Amino acid sequence: MNQEILLKEINRKKNNMTEEVIYRQETQDDFQEVFELNNKAFGQDNEAKIVSALRDNPNVFIPELSIVATKNKKIIGHILFTKINIQDDNKNFHESLGLAPMAVLPEFQKSGIGGKLIRYGLETAKQLDYQSVIVLGHEHYYPKFGFEPAEKWNIKAPFDVPSNVFMAIELVKYGLKNISGTVIYPKEFETV
Ligand SMILES: CC(C)(COP(=O)(O)OP(=O)(O)OC[C@H]1O[C@@H](n2cnc3c(N)ncnc32)[C@H](O)[C@@H]1OP(=O)(O)O)[C@@H](O)C(=O)NCCC(=O)NCCS
Repeated sequence: MNQEILLKEINRKKNNMTEEVIYRQETQDDFQEVFELNNKAFGQDNEAKIVSALRDNPNVFIPELSIVATKNKKIIGHILFTKINIQDDNKNFHESLGLAPMAVLPEFQKSGIGGKLIRYGLETAKQLDYQSVIVLGHEHYYPKFGFEPAEKWNIKAPFDVPSNVFMAIELVKYGLKNISGTVIYPKEFETV
């Protein structure tokens, strides 16, 4: 390889490494890559299938809240927020959002991409006028983004989980005021 070609090659590699990560709404062209990403991140295709099933349910799927992180046009992360309900003791339903699942390709993990996907998602949800988000997840991770144990609002999971891993965030002040009860997830979460 002559020196000019070598320099071009080095620059190309450097650009690839420094290429910024772009966060944007998922499009139909991304579906297959998002499936493979979830498959790789979770080491099984259950979550990938749940994402596909949720997309097919217009009652819960919000296209703007299926978000991908891309680098050099390759999808390296994905996060999904879907509509969920909180059912109170009087059997009234209150709409909220559930954050699940989220995934970052193993080789890109622990560099902040997951965190940026969460922040991008929360901001988009707020712009779309959603009031709150519920998550079941790591108790030291989600509080970084403002999540607090859902028991603060007397909101419970529909299954047995330690209270510190079941969390909620208000996207607007008083977004969960006077809302308590049990979360009802879309049935698609039980399909696999
Ligand atoms: C969870 C996940 C999306 C985080 O993405 P990421 O880009 O690595 O996240 P960030 O770089 O913003 O943060 C990394 C931190 O999250 C922590 N974390 C978040 N969720 C975690 C989980 N479910 N298990 C273990 N650690 C988790 C890591 O320990 C790490 O902590 P540290 O920074 O103190 O070392 C990624 O690890 C992943 O795809 N995991 C496999 C799929 C999964 O378990 N998804 C979550 C359940 S839906």
